[in-house]
Amino acid sequence: MKVMVVGSGGREHTLCWKLNQSPVVNKIFCAPGNAGIAEVAECVDIDVCDLEKLADFAKKEEVDFAVVGPEAPLCAGLVDVLKENGIKVFGPSKIAAQLEGSKDFAKQFMLNHNIPTAKAASFSSAKPAEEYIRNEFAEGAKGIVIKADGLAAGKGVCVADEVETAVDFMRSCFEGVFGGAGSQVLVEECLFGEEASILALTDGKTIVPLVSSQDHKRAYDNDEGPNTGGMGAYSPAPVVDDEIMAQVNSQILDNFLKGIQEDGLDFKGLLFVGVMVTENGPKVLEFNVRFGDPEVQAVMCRLDSDLLGVMMKTAEGKLSEAELVWSDDPAVCVVMASGGYPGSYKKGYEITGLDAAAEEGAVVFHAGTSKQEGKIVNTGGRVLGVTARGKDIAAAIANAYRAVDKIHWQDCFCRRDIGFRALAREK
Ligand code: AMP
Ligand code: GLY
Repeated sequence: MKVMVVGSGGREHTLCWKLNQSPVVNKIFCAPGNAGIAEVAECVDIDVCDLEKLADFAKKEEVDFAVVGPEAPLCAGLVDVLKENGIKVFGPSKIAAQLEGSKDFAKQFMLNHNIPTAKAASFSSAKPAEEYIRNEFAEGAKGIVIKADGLAAGKGVCVADEVETAVDFMRSCFEGVFGGAGSQVLVEECLFGEEASILALTDGKTIVPLVSSQDHKRAYDNDEGPNTGGMGAYSPAPVVDDEIMAQVNSQILDNFLKGIQEDGLDFKGLLFVGVMVTENGPKVLEFNVRFGDPEVQAVMCRLDSDLLGVMMKTAEGKLSEAELVWSDDPAVCVVMASGGYPGSYKKGYEITGLDAAAEEGAVVFHAGTSKQEGKIVNTGGRVLGVTARGKDIAAAIANAYRAVDKIHWQDCFCRRDIGFRALAREK
């Protein structure tokens, strides 16, 4: 079978790597891919949002199955366009992708379908939003969360514990700092607890959670520094114990499934629920309509079944027939980033030690890399996701960092405490 994967990050390298293990896959194309992806797939230089070009390519190459990785092409409607061109594809329709593309749409969906989430109000201008924020603090709120409505590459959210910070961020949204994404602003109750990521497959008839995971969003150790796309992840997330998982299933996933059925949303792909485990149970922070990155690195390293089979069953509406077998061994992914990330950083430094890291038993997933004059160099903020399994979480952490320590490029950095919450819960 010929498969086309769309995207160029650590998520897409992970998906290509796992799909390449399938006995029925004999060719993978990845648009546009990266230096790591090039080891398992043929990279094609097409932008992820060039819908027509991607569809033409898939038709010309007689691609049997397509997997769309990132949110931007999903929200732009790539799944619909590929389907119109007769290509079988894994991913939600354009309208269903609004569950990630519009925070307002997602919040309404949660409220309409009884899915536990933070209280929120939506505004289209600054004055009433400011009044609402000031009033919330006056009534004793310990914090407030401001969210620009549309896609803002993870930057459109501010968790503020101080009224002026909240007001300033809200104003900057309306002033266009996030472009069109900020023309509508959600002001949300601040939830307290521990976050976890729940990834689940759905074909619109069945919903099946994958093993739990947790991301580390802040740039530096001890959860300090600015927010990033994610500096590391591990699976399972011990905060999601059996009791919490039962609540996630009954209150969130079952209601999600009923909701997409009632609203007629065509969703045959992956739902990623960002959850806050509060004193009053799990509450939804956000929906994403694609695999979490770097969560997927850790999760896929634990999947013993054939990913292609599972994805095809999902796309065909036969998810209930799919078999998912997981390793009990935890997995840890440590992200190595370019110095300066998430701010500006220098590109083009040669990355060394990749083979030595692989010899340590880790899988090194590439994100922002490319090959220049035979050398692999950094070209993005998040560069590598060094991922390893172990017999327990401590062993998985040690295995991942042993591999990390073999890799180097100028100014690279990583967090040294990935998995610390899981370790603390084990003690
Ligand atoms: P979002 O893109 O909506 O997931 O927000 C990004 C991050 O902001 C989340 O992963 C949380 O760390 C934080 N966040 C979002 N909403 C809330 C909330 N209501 N209370 C506390 N933290 C939140
Ligand atoms: N790791 C968070 C995300 O993929 O959005």
